[in-house]
Amino acid sequence: MCGIVGYVGQRSALDVVMSGLRRLEYRGYDSAGVALVDNGGLVTAKKAGKLLNLDAELAARPLPESHTGIGHTRWATHGAPNDRNAHPHLDESGRIAVVHNGIIENFAALRAELEASGHEMQSDTDTEIVAHLLHDELKRTPDLSDAVRAVCQRLEGAFTLVICDADHPDVVVGARRNSPLVVGRGEGENFLGSDVAAFIEFTRDAIELGQDQVVTITPTDVVITDFFGEPVETTEYHVDWDVSAAEKGGFEWFMLKEIDEQPQAVADTLLGRHSSDGRLQLDEMRLSDDELREVDRIIVVACGTASYAALVAKYAIEHWTRIPCEVELASEFRYRDPILDRSTLVVAISQSGETMDTLMAIRYARRQKARVLSICNTNGSTIPRESDAVLYTHAGPEIAVASTKGFLSQVVACYLLALYIAQVKGTKYGDEIAAILQEIEKIPAGIQRMLDEGDQVRKLATELAGSRSILFLGRHVGYPVALEGALKLKELAYIHAEGFAAGELKHGPIAVVEEGLPVFVIVPPKGRDQLQEKTVSSIQEVRARGARTIVLVEDGDDDVVPYADHVIRLPKVPTLLQPLVATVPLQIFACEFASQLGHDVDQPRNLAKSVTVE
Ligand code: AGP
Repeated sequence: MCGIVGYVGQRSALDVVMSGLRRLEYRGYDSAGVALVDNGGLVTAKKAGKLLNLDAELAARPLPESHTGIGHTRWATHGAPNDRNAHPHLDESGRIAVVHNGIIENFAALRAELEASGHEMQSDTDTEIVAHLLHDELKRTPDLSDAVRAVCQRLEGAFTLVICDADHPDVVVGARRNSPLVVGRGEGENFLGSDVAAFIEFTRDAIELGQDQVVTITPTDVVITDFFGEPVETTEYHVDWDVSAAEKGGFEWFMLKEIDEQPQAVADTLLGRHSSDGRLQLDEMRLSDDELREVDRIIVVACGTASYAALVAKYAIEHWTRIPCEVELASEFRYRDPILDRSTLVVAISQSGETMDTLMAIRYARRQKARVLSICNTNGSTIPRESDAVLYTHAGPEIAVASTKGFLSQVVACYLLALYIAQVKGTKYGDEIAAILQEIEKIPAGIQRMLDEGDQVRKLATELAGSRSILFLGRHVGYPVALEGALKLKELAYIHAEGFAAGELKHGPIAVVEEGLPVFVIVPPKGRDQLQEKTVSSIQEVRARGARTIVLVEDGDDDVVPYADHVIRLPKVPTLLQPLVATVPLQIFACEFASQLGHDVDQPRNLAKSVTVE
């Protein structure tokens, strides 16, 4: 997820673009850059790191005045976060500049085609190929908008593109598929942005671009067509958010925005990583198939929410790869003198990639000659840099301290890793892997349904807001969900919240159950080992002792109804995938519960987004 700004009008384009980038920096801060159209040419500046680095660059080497320009703050997906990979990217003539948000799924094939025809790439990004494709297309199609439309027809995946052209000084062109782009309409000026925060200080009149559309802005006109040049219906709207709300997409908290982004985060983490016949390709794996075949033991190390993703992963890894898998809290791992060797694969899960406990764990593992693969959301951070291989989640920046989209995308990345190993080791046939991937591809819709049905959960949070203790029970992969639900509530509402394996209840914890105690129970789908029946028994046990039972159960399972004070229905999904939908109501509950208490949901007391101390 990146921040994009485009401008054409009578103001200083640099001032407008930089102002917009500052409001969009939460969307990505790996690098930033601008391109301006100046006297028949382009001038650019771009720097790795936060926007202040670009500010310093511009102070040292000022750009000439211009009234047409584009800008970008990057959240890296393809290519490390450095100056070379910072946007904008130019074609070899330096006439065309492109900024991009998203993932061009077929970029490898297009890059190979361009290089075969003599183009020389200057970066490792998927974005740069668009500049080269436009360079070639403009030889055939002199009109910039037509050339952009022709190039968009060749791209697959998710992309928002904004382009400026030295030969068209009063024009900026944008295009979008599966990634947002908004037009800001001014007087004698017009704007493009990833969201309205890009231009809200200049205009509140906006037009949301639809799927597969191209927009051409000049100081006086906005023309929107589909990818084939046909005009499309558009709807103008007036933005009534304040600037702070705009940065949160209109949500009260970044956490709410990030909960809402989860369908896209899961879809983006899946994007480009398997073919239609289910063959997995993990482009940044960097462990050879032979190395993976040597693996006879997997240890997953992580902290907090990431450790609960690891617990979910354990079930999938063992079930699909038949390799023994242990989960270790990173802060405990190296102190038990674990026995590791070359055939041990240590998987480190970390959203930030900077958690010191996890970093120290992988350093220990590498000293013991184990192979280390990290699953991380922050491109170029320390943990991936010190790993033998990395599998990036593509959740976009996660600003709220309480991890939500980071967690779901970690679970999905673990599924992909497990399936990839199963593919390499042959413990799953291709058609079995394809069938599982088809089910995983349906998950964003299941998450969206949980978001759409969130009001029932918010109402429940209001009813329970006075509670000082809440339990969460689950079995199998529902157990890590119970732990995650409890952690969300603990870290946001500062009350006692505890997750248990439902089967453990009778071995002690049931002693705390008393009249009116709220107990969430995640019920597994019916099927193997009577886990569903055993969980229904747990619900009966706590209900018999006065608990107020809130039961998360899949559509059609009515066994629980007689023992449930509240039923939260889940989409029917395969057992191993249930955490991806069951976690969402618990996130919404914790967020609303904390809001009711007047807490700062994004910055809970005593916590930091990345714990860089041991
Ligand atoms: C989750 O809501 C917490 N913020 C915390 O448990 C977090 O998951 C943990 O500190 C690990 O962070 P990481 O994923 O960045 O390594």
